[in-house]
Amino acid sequence: MIQFKNISKHYQLKGQTLQALDNINLTIPEGSIFGLIGYSGAGKSTLIRLINLLERPTRGQIIINQKDFTALDARSLRQERANIGMIFQHFNLLQTKTVAQNIEIPMQLLGVSKEKREQRLEELLDFIDLKHKKNAYPDELSGGQKQRVGIARALANHPKILLCDEATSALDPQTTKSVLELLKKINKEQNITIVMVTHEMDVIESVCDHVAVMEAGQVIEQGSTVDIFSHPQHPTTQNFIQTVLQHHLPVNILNQLEHQNHHSIYRLQFLGKSAQQTVIQTLIKQYDVSLNILFANMTEIDGTVIGQMFIQLLGEENTIKHAIVYLEEQGVSVAQAAVGEQA
Ligand SMILES: Nc1ncnc2c1ncn2[C@@H]1O[C@H](COP(=O)(O)OP(=O)(O)OP(=O)(O)O)[C@@H](O)[C@H]1O
Ligand SMILES: [Mg+2]
Repeated sequence: MIQFKNISKHYQLKGQTLQALDNINLTIPEGSIFGLIGYSGAGKSTLIRLINLLERPTRGQIIINQKDFTALDARSLRQERANIGMIFQHFNLLQTKTVAQNIEIPMQLLGVSKEKREQRLEELLDFIDLKHKKNAYPDELSGGQKQRVGIARALANHPKILLCDEATSALDPQTTKSVLELLKKINKEQNITIVMVTHEMDVIESVCDHVAVMEAGQVIEQGSTVDIFSHPQHPTTQNFIQTVLQHHLPVNILNQLEHQNHHSIYRLQFLGKSAQQTVIQTLIKQYDVSLNILFANMTEIDGTVIGQMFIQLLGEENTIKHAIVYLEEQGVSVAQAAVGEQA
């Protein structure tokens, strides 16, 4: 478990104080894949770099498994850091060293014997599926392969925590997917806690079980990914979610509507087990309303399905009220749809 307690970080720039982090309180559960998302300048990199104390906080404590990292002396800190691996957006491989040499660096720094190093190297090359590139130089690798080497290097000393700062931002979508799959595998099979900084909600959606949204040095919202996706509170969170799960009815659909009565449009959200088809069928059978499905999509997060549907409900006011009560009784959340605000 990683805990940030009352963490603030100030930078002095030309006599001015810049507050990069402002009183952050956050707990990252052991074994989770925890996403930190926010726009540029929100403080994500600053926060993740505090975990291994690459930067020191101006105020507050970093507590990892009950140990106060901010209170450690230099020697203990060096030892503890071996339990934390890190990967980067631009891979940070040494260009003049081969794949094998790059992966061995952290083991050399820790004084691991040559024999043990070689054994671990083979294991890691096997794990990242790059045995055939053992003696290649970074220049000869694709972006995805470079990041795999970065991952192997980060895992060399069997860390318990893996920090990833925009680890997939320089990769194409297909390669991103395969690197994310690899990170998931590391988390599952080796029970390594992964902290992941990103500005892409689909990265959070596909791998993170928890997420914190940052803005202007503060955590503005946090929770399980399913909760945040199904009930985003803060406008910034809603904007991020909108990038993967449309919360507004697309304008072109709106324009094609026969009955331009926007008050009759509702957004239904189905969580987990509420079966969309049966609920809608029953609604049409039992209530004297006409129902028009305008737009629907769904996503699966951490094993939970979140589905949403925009419908137009036309009929007697009272009948519609009853129909909505029926939907809510079935565990469907119903809201008047936000219309036309975003394409
Ligand atoms: N070494 C530094 N010296 C001075 N200011 C800094 C330093 N590092 C970061 N900052 C400032 O702190 C704030 C947060 O920066 P940070 O790099 O943590 O943002 P970020 O969320 O990672 O952004 P991005 O998505 O662009 O990487 C920014 O205003 C930035 O300019
Ligand atoms: Mg950053």
